[in-house]
Amino acid sequence: MGCQLGKLAASERRGGNNAAPALTDGPPPTTDPRLPLTAKQKYSMLASWKGISRAMEKTGICMFIKLFEENQDLLHMFEKFRQYRTKEEQFNSTELAEHANNVMNTLDEGIKGLDDLDNFFAYIHQIGASHRRIPGFKVEYFWKIEAPFLAAVESTLGDRYTPNVENIYKITIKFILETLVEGYEKGGAPGNFAT
Ligand code: HEM
Repeated sequence: MGCQLGKLAASERRGGNNAAPALTDGPPPTTDPRLPLTAKQKYSMLASWKGISRAMEKTGICMFIKLFEENQDLLHMFEKFRQYRTKEEQFNSTELAEHANNVMNTLDEGIKGLDDLDNFFAYIHQIGASHRRIPGFKVEYFWKIEAPFLAAVESTLGDRYTPNVENIYKITIKFILETLVEGYEKGGAPGNFAT
């Protein structure tokens, strides 16, 4: 599924090969049992994410355009750019680009933080809980970004998005979204003042 952001895609498609070098022999490294990825998958995820890091803005804009394409009804929550209803207007909106960057930076921090899950949970829970402040937001909306995220990653990575890489992104985004949901839900628990 392409993203039709050809103008940007061409300039950002250059750059090295992100294939992960082979892990050294020996027993498989252990990972935090809370992480749904094997050590090898985590390694591949971090290697592949470098390709996204180099095209963060394009990937983020693509993700949001897809989100609104499939869910027009969500646009009204975004005060800063809800007036932009066509793909073209959304593509050219600096406000949307800024928001897309903020969300992508959160994902970037989260993914790079998979090595330290205590920090990962604290950070992603706090972002999840912060959505309680958004008028009209419902916790189930988090899942709406899953398919647009995967489509945007596919569009940016091109042939680097192999079935193995796809599987790893699916596990990772599910893990992040579950953690956002948990943070949102905990944020509403009595006595929990997380924002
Ligand atoms: C990967 C999932 C998501 C992450 C990491 C995330 C992260 C963030 C962050 C960091 C902010 C504050 C920064 C800013 O306002 O620009 C934010 C705000 C917001 N988010 Fe999310 N978000 C996610 C998913 C969603 C989804 C699926 C929706 C709606 C369906 C949504 C709706 C909003 C809204 C309406 C705001 C306030 C924007 C504003 O008032 O400017 N978020 N989000």
